[in-house]
Order: sequence, then structure tokens, then C-alpha cells
Amino acid sequence: MVADPALLRAGALQRDFSRHSWLHFTRMKGMIDSGAPIIDRGEGCYLWDINGKRYFDGLSGLFTVQIGYGREELADVAAQQMKRLSYASHFGYGNGPSIDLAARIAELAPGSLNRVFFSASGSEAVETALKMARQYHKLRGFSGRYKTISRKLAYHGTSFGALSVNGVTALRAPFEPLVPGARHVNNTNCYRCPSRGAEGGCCMRCLTEIEDTILFEGPETVSAVVIEPVQNSGGCFTPPPGYMEGVRSICDRYGILFISDEVICAFGRLGTMFGHEKYGYVPDIVTMAKGLSSGYQPIGGCLVRDEVADTFMDSPTRSFTHGITFGGHPVAAAVALKNLEIMTDERVVENVAANEGYFRDLLESLMSRHDCIGDVRGAGYFMAMELVKDKSTKESFTDQESEDLLRNVVSARLQEEGLICRAEDKGEPVIQLSPPLIATREQLADIADILDRVLSDVDRRLRQRTPLRAVPPSSSVASNGAMA
Ligand SMILES: Cc1ncc(COP(=O)(O)O)c(C=O)c1O
Repeated sequence: MVADPALLRAGALQRDFSRHSWLHFTRMKGMIDSGAPIIDRGEGCYLWDINGKRYFDGLSGLFTVQIGYGREELADVAAQQMKRLSYASHFGYGNGPSIDLAARIAELAPGSLNRVFFSASGSEAVETALKMARQYHKLRGFSGRYKTISRKLAYHGTSFGALSVNGVTALRAPFEPLVPGARHVNNTNCYRCPSRGAEGGCCMRCLTEIEDTILFEGPETVSAVVIEPVQNSGGCFTPPPGYMEGVRSICDRYGILFISDEVICAFGRLGTMFGHEKYGYVPDIVTMAKGLSSGYQPIGGCLVRDEVADTFMDSPTRSFTHGITFGGHPVAAAVALKNLEIMTDERVVENVAANEGYFRDLLESLMSRHDCIGDVRGAGYFMAMELVKDKSTKESFTDQESEDLLRNVVSARLQEEGLICRAEDKGEPVIQLSPPLIATREQLADIADILDRVLSDVDRRLRQRTPLRAVPPSSSVASNGAMA
């Protein structure tokens, strides 16, 4: 009998995976012992694993694949650009695609956000923004400004500077001591805010905390405030009305730069081209990556206001003392430019804006039917549902219960059902959805149907108080690396 080549290939991949691969933020032992989820191909909103099982990618890879998988136009642009100029250094040289892309991004952005410094990833973008802020202050004679203010639970990347502004204790602890000067304030978790409903609301409480922290540290020591338009980690915390304007005016009052980390929220995720547009503020620096190329090439960068950038350009002897070998890569830039063209031509951002309410209604209707959902929050195609033990008291799960629930029930059932989304508990346990921005109403409804079945299972188990079922960790593809 002739062996099936696909089966042979799958077996060989698993064998080599066990011996040589190392996944990010991933508990490897279970996968080495029992096999890893291995993705083979993608088309539109769907992925297929090496066993031929199809998944709806409700996480867009990692909040990245805005226009979906398998677009030939992007492959063609990459091939043409590779033949013409496969690489160019940005150390002292420009190149056509990176100039075109910077001009296009500036054209899309509001206000005086006109200058782009490219990187190859989101962490590098955040790292760049932090260094840019520090050098900006030094050039202007404020050399004591080195501290940052960011938010608890927020995720801003993994390099040391970016990690320092992260607010996830479990991610910080293994690498401490981190870059000095990083201070953390509360995020806008309105569901669990003690001031919810009080006069002034949770918005005022958070703003006061930021200002108090600045005053406590000494405004002359603070360089930048780093905030996402909608905070991913913890489960899509949106800013209450007035919050972002408040942050902007605090930054202005004390001469601090406002860095809007839009590595997830830029390029349509919230139903606007940039995240800050959704909430009506203009930051000093926007960090971006992921959706800029829909993940077809690794690319990121900082979009910078003229007032900041000009400080580096005003004198013939000045430069930003920072650079990255792959920053401004011509192939990545050409692909990103084509991605933005497709997003514009196919009205991808408008698709999100048009379906935002429909998507929210679907999830809120799940909340009304399922005891285990306490909150639905987010914006655009970036939504989270918080899982609770008791909806009336908002009682949450113990760490062990949360671990069992997410890994052994939610992730396992999502895997069975063929839906990739994030089930995680960096804060309270949440299920997060971030589908490709091309997803239709029918596809959003399919996601909701799957979740309905999965959540019914969770409800039933909670009602019966049955012990949670143990499944091999390798089946956690549904929650991806988030379960680190
Ligand atoms: C808000 C935010 N900033 C920065 C990063 C880091 O990006 P990267 O993983 O490309 O380094 C991420 C990654 O998810 C992110 O969500």
C-alpha cells in the first residue's frame, strides 16, 4: 500500500516540531508530548491545519490579517519588488516604496501626524517611540525626563523598553529589573470600576490618578504617557467619554508626550483608520504594526507629529540616534502600500463601521442568554466577553477554576467547533474576538452560533458544578499562544 503523502508530511512536521521548534509564549511540554496545532494554509477568513481541519480565524492571526489570507495581489507586489530592489538600508538611504508608504500614511492621518519612522515589528515601534520621546526631551534641554506612565495589565511588546511599560506582572517578573522609570496606573476597566455610576464616573478617577502620579514623580521627570485606544490585555477596555481628551490635556499641561499604541487599533480594527480617530484625540506619536501590511510582511513604525519630528530635523548636525536593519524594508513597504490600497478600494474600514453595531448586538444577545457572561465590551471588530461565576455579583473564578475553564472547556470546545479566538486570563477570564475586517454579517453570525454552543456547555458545567474535563494541552489551538 502507498502511504498518503499528506499524512507522511504531517507526521514529519510533528516529529521535527518536537525536536526543533520553540513557540512563543507557549507551554511546550504538552505539545512536544502530544503534538502541536500546525497551520497549513489560509484563504479569506479561514485557516486549515495540516490535518485538513478548517477554522474561522476569529483572531485575524494575532489582530493582524485585516484583509484576510491568500490575496494574490500582495504576493505579486512582493515578487515584483523583490526583483527590482529586494533590500535597502534606511541608514542614510531612502527607497521608493518606503517613501510612498510614509506619504500615504501621513495622508490618511489627521492633524500634523506627518513623519514616519519604520520598524519591523510592534515591539520595535514601541521601543522606538520611547527612545524618540527621551531624545526629544534631551534635545530640548529637558534631560531629566525619562519616566513613563502606562497602564496596569496593558501589553506593549517584549523588548526591554516595551516590556517595561507593559503592565502584566507575570510577563515582567521573569526579566526584572527592567528599564527604570516605568510607572503604572489603572486602566479603564469600567465593568469593575468602584466609581462606576458615581458623579464624574470612572473616567475622572483614572484621570486624577494619572495627574497625581505625574505630580508625585515630578512633571520634569516624565517623558511620555503610553496608552492604547482600546486596551487589548484584560479584554478590550474602551475609554469612557472624556478620558482620552483628559489624557491629552494632562500631557499638554506638563509637557509630556502622548504615545498612542495602535499596534492593534490602527488600520481599521475599531472602524476608523486610526484608533485615536475613534475617540477624537490626536497623539504625539502613534505606534503601529500588524494591520499595516495585514501581516503579509513584517512591518511597523512610528507616526510622529511635526512638532516632535522637527526637533530632530531643525539642525544640520542632529539625528535620531536609532535605527533597525529591516526598518523601511522596500518589500514590506510595497506590500503594506498595496494592503492600504485594497483597504481603501474595498471599503474595508467602512465594512467594520457598518457592522460594528450588528456584531455587538450578537454578543450582547449571547450575554442575555448565558449566565457565564458578565460583560461585553470593545469597539469595531475588537470585542471581548468577560466570563463570570455569578453574573449578579460579578464574582469571578479562582485562578485554578479560570485555568480549567479556559484551557479545558472553552479552548477545547472552540477547537472542536473550528473557531480560533482568544480565551485568556491575564486579568479576569475573557473570550476575545478580532475577526478579519472583511468578515461579513453572515460570518459574524456564524461566530456567534459557535459561541452559543460553547457557552451553553460552560453554563451547563457551572450549573452542574461538574469537575472540568481534562484534555491534552495540544488542543489549545483555539486560544493560541495567549495561554502562555
Ligand atoms: C498594543 C501592542 N503593542 C505592541 C505589541 C508588540 O508587537 P509585536 O508582537 O509585533 O512586537 C503588541 C503585540 O500584540 C500590541 O498588542
